[in-house]
Amino acid sequence: MKVFIAGGTGASGKYATQALIDAGHTVTALARTSEKAAMLELQGAKAVNVSVFDRSALTKVFKGQDAVINLTSAIPPTAQFMNSNAWVANEKVRVEGSTAIVDAALAAGVTRVIQESVSMLYPDNGSAWIDEAMPTDQYPMARANLAAEANANRFTTSGSIGVVLRFGWFYGPGAKHSEEFLALARHHICVQMGSPNGYVSSIHVSDADTAVVAALNVAAGTYNIVDDEPLQKREYANALAAAAGKTAWLRVPGRAALLLGDRSTSLTWSLRVSNKRFCIATGWVPKYPSAREGWIATAKLLYPRD
Ligand SMILES: NC(=O)c1ccc[n+]([C@@H]2O[C@H](COP(=O)([O-])OP(=O)(O)OC[C@H]3O[C@@H](n4cnc5c(N)ncnc54)[C@H](OP(=O)(O)O)[C@@H]3O)[C@@H](O)[C@H]2O)c1
Repeated sequence: MKVFIAGGTGASGKYATQALIDAGHTVTALARTSEKAAMLELQGAKAVNVSVFDRSALTKVFKGQDAVINLTSAIPPTAQFMNSNAWVANEKVRVEGSTAIVDAALAAGVTRVIQESVSMLYPDNGSAWIDEAMPTDQYPMARANLAAEANANRFTTSGSIGVVLRFGWFYGPGAKHSEEFLALARHHICVQMGSPNGYVSSIHVSDADTAVVAALNVAAGTYNIVDDEPLQKREYANALAAAAGKTAWLRVPGRAALLLGDRSTSLTWSLRVSNKRFCIATGWVPKYPSAREGWIATAKLLYPRD
């Protein structure tokens, strides 16, 4: 297929670009700088510098593409997570960018749009499983993701195929916050947000990328892209410690994360999200069934001498 990808130069998105090329697709990717363009060309993609807010320029670029994939996000670094101004760029790219991309895809006659979203949109559901039928929570931080999802759904109601991928909490090489978590675990400090009995639904970045490829052949709709086995937060912290080869002496911030305000709210919830719908629809199987295996692989790659 001929595929256009926006956000394919990101820490995790660059692996999606590679996975698409490896699967035999002809990939055109958005590059905002000449360095990123050179990186894409090296990978085997055609690089195009176009604004995600410019409908008419996007329409020209999308002509002849079979699918458009939007993985753009501008999530601030962990140190600025609690600063609301740091989230403005993310809101803009998710709300205005996804609107322009869908408008342009419709104008260009593209038949499929794949939109990144997150499974942290669901409300806390204790130890019960969550599937796509569960209504999302409308908390303030969810606004931009829900707007991007609405654009993909608008693409579907216009007679084309809009696919929303609700990714679990990314971890693995390239997912910056998770690299920071592993570095802390090497000092016996393990990140654990909320109750130790709550569930965290994560996804290794390499599994997220194979899901993007599989989504090129799935029916329109919303799909959870998470590990087969979400872990309880206590087990997740243990998996992190085991991968770091250390004992978890400190588990932070624990329930104190509830005091951090709405930007951390969803990360403190118990989200036991199921990937069954996507697995059944596509035959996709994550390489790492849970964070136990995925963290070990991540540590081996990031700290090969250990
Ligand atoms: N499910 C999750 O847990 C989840 C979801 C999203 C992000 N995150 C986290 O957030 C951090 C960043 O993730 P990431 O790998 O997606 O981010 P990233 O490395 O910042 O990449 C974001 C992508 O969006 C592009 N982008 C951002 N603003 C844009 C704009 N205005 N116009 C066009 N393209 C734009 C970037 O382009 P450039 O390469 O030119 O900058 C890049 O390709 C990581 O720690 C990640 O784990 C987590």
